[in-house]
Amino acid sequence: MLNKKIADLLNDQINKEFYSAYLYLEMSNYFEAKGLDGFANWFYVQAQEERDHAMLFYRYLQNNDEKVCLQAIAKPDKEFKCCMEALQEALNHEEYVTSLIHNIYAETEHLNDFRTREFLHWFVAEQCEEEDNARDLINKMKNFGGDNGGLYLLDQELSQRKYESPSLTLD
Ligand code: FEO
Repeated sequence: MLNKKIADLLNDQINKEFYSAYLYLEMSNYFEAKGLDGFANWFYVQAQEERDHAMLFYRYLQNNDEKVCLQAIAKPDKEFKCCMEALQEALNHEEYVTSLIHNIYAETEHLNDFRTREFLHWFVAEQCEEEDNARDLINKMKNFGGDNGGLYLLDQELSQRKYESPSLTLD
């Protein structure tokens, strides 16, 4: 059995990850409506990754004999005035998720929960990549998205992103 505080934090994280999936689906929806199918694809794939993150926490709890308590997923209440605002929001959100993961990690250290700490290592590294991807997108938009030709090419590039299963798997 896990410490109750750790189990509760992991359970909450399932909801946060599903909310992330919802938020990125909303962004995909936003870009689709603007005719930017490549951006829409990029965020659609991102939503799939977030669903995987949620399922990893879900499975980890079950594997440790903890009953999962699924919570309602909040509506992604975001209005984007422009593409750049949506991209910035994605980065802000990833930084927030990083803080959540770090908070759970800190609790595992405090409570000597070596097993959960080991499990979280993958997420700590993943958050570095997630933030980097979000920052990269902002920089590409700044550098190339300023005119229609550049935006078209960037959209084409983002249309190539493919979903891949996470490198971490739990039976
Ligand atoms: Fe599950 Fe994008 O962090």
